[in-house]
Amino acid sequence: MYLKDLQVVNFRNYKHQELTFKPGVFIVQGANGQGKSNLLESIYVLCFGKSYRTHREHDLVFWQSPYYYLKGLVFLEERLYQVEVGYEMAKQRKVHKTNGRAGRHLSSELLFPVVFFVPEDLELVRRGPEERRKYMDMEIGQGDPLYAGYLQRYKKALFQKNRLLKTRRPGVSPDALLRPWNEQIVYFGSRLIQRRGEFVRNWNRLAGEHYQRLFEHEPDLEIVYESLGCTCQSLGKVETVEKIFWGELSRVEGKERERGFSLAGPHKDDMIFLLNHRDARRFASHGQQRGIVIALKAAQVQYYKEMGKKPLFLLDDIFSELDEIRREKCYTLFEEAGQVFLTITRKEKYMDNFLTRFNNCYFLSVEKGQVKEI
Ligand SMILES: Nc1ncnc2c1ncn2[C@@H]1O[C@H](COP(=O)(O)OP(=O)(O)OP(=O)(O)O)[C@@H](O)[C@H]1O
Ligand SMILES: [Mg+2]
Repeated sequence: MYLKDLQVVNFRNYKHQELTFKPGVFIVQGANGQGKSNLLESIYVLCFGKSYRTHREHDLVFWQSPYYYLKGLVFLEERLYQVEVGYEMAKQRKVHKTNGRAGRHLSSELLFPVVFFVPEDLELVRRGPEERRKYMDMEIGQGDPLYAGYLQRYKKALFQKNRLLKTRRPGVSPDALLRPWNEQIVYFGSRLIQRRGEFVRNWNRLAGEHYQRLFEHEPDLEIVYESLGCTCQSLGKVETVEKIFWGELSRVEGKERERGFSLAGPHKDDMIFLLNHRDARRFASHGQQRGIVIALKAAQVQYYKEMGKKPLFLLDDIFSELDEIRREKCYTLFEEAGQVFLTITRKEKYMDNFLTRFNNCYFLSVEKGQVKEI
C-alpha cells in the first residue's frame, strides 16, 4: 500500500498543504514543533478515521478555524481509494468518506495495512496494564470484526454486574441476580481471552525473533499473557477458558461482594514483556524498551508479509535513544514496506546510508506547518 496524494486543510498547524508521493522512503525533517508529527498524524487519521493522540476532534482543527479536512488517494492491491475525513466545529459533525460514499465504520469494511511507531507507543512498555489491554484490543479488533462485538458486549455485562454489586438489596439473593450477568461475562470474556492469548503467543514468537535479529547479542525477549490468575502464552481452547473463568469467579465471589466490584476477567488482563526473564517495565533500559516496541511492530510487518501485503509505515521519531548499529538494523524492515514516512529533527551522517541503500528515498523539510521537497 502507498499514499499517492495528500491534502491537509486546517489540520493542526497546517493551513493548506497538497502533496504527491510515490512508493519509497520519505524522510520528513524539521526542527522541534514545526509539524512533523502532525503530518504523520494526518495520514494516520485518514487511514484509521481517528487520531492516536486525542479523542477530541476539535484539538485537530487549526486554532480558530471552523473545520478540518483531509483527503488522500491510497493505492492498495491494484486499486485506488479516495479517502476523506473532516470535522465541522459548529455542528460537531464528523464526516468520513471512501470513494465518495459516507461510512463511519470504514475501518471495519476496508482495512489499510498500516504499521506505525509513535513516541506514545513506548507507554506500552513503560506504563500500566491498561495501555497494553488497549493495544491488544486495537490490534486484534483491526483484523477480527467479531472481537469488537465481543468486547462491547463484555463491557456492557460487566457494567451491569458492577452496578448490582454496588447496590445490594435486602432479602434478594445476590447470586440469582448476578448469575445471568456472570454467564454473559464468561461467554464473551472467554472469547476475548482466547483471542488475546492466541495473539500474544504469535507476538511472542515473531517479536522474539525480531528482537534477536535487530538487537543481536542482547537478552531474549519473551511476551507473556496474564489472565484469570494464569501467566502463560495462551489458555488454550475456549471451553477450557470458560471452565477456568467459572472457577476464578467462584474463588473471588465473596471478595467481589465485599468490595462492590468485579475482580476477575479480561478487564484485569496484562501482557508482560520479559528481557532475560525480568520485567522490562522495571529493568529494561530506554533503548531496550524502544527495541521491544520496534520488535512488536516488526512482528506486525511480518504478519502482513505472510498475507502478501506491503504495508505503509508511519515512523515518528523511531531512532532516538538507539545507537548506530541498531538504527542500521532497523533499515532492513523498510524493505518490507510499500512506503515509509520517517521523521527526524536533523539530517545526520548515517542518513547518507539511506540514499545509497534505497534508490527511491526522498527528503521533505517541514517548517511552521509547511512542507517542501528537497
Ligand atoms: N490544533 C492546532 N492548531 C494549530 N497548531 C497546533 C494545533 N495542535 C498543535 N499545534 C502546533 O503544532 C506544533 C507541533 O507540531 P508537531 O507535534 O508536528 O511538531 P514536531 O515537528 O513533530 O516536533 P518535535 O520534533 O518536537 O516532535 C506545535 O507548535 C503546536 O503548537
Ligand atoms: Mg514530533
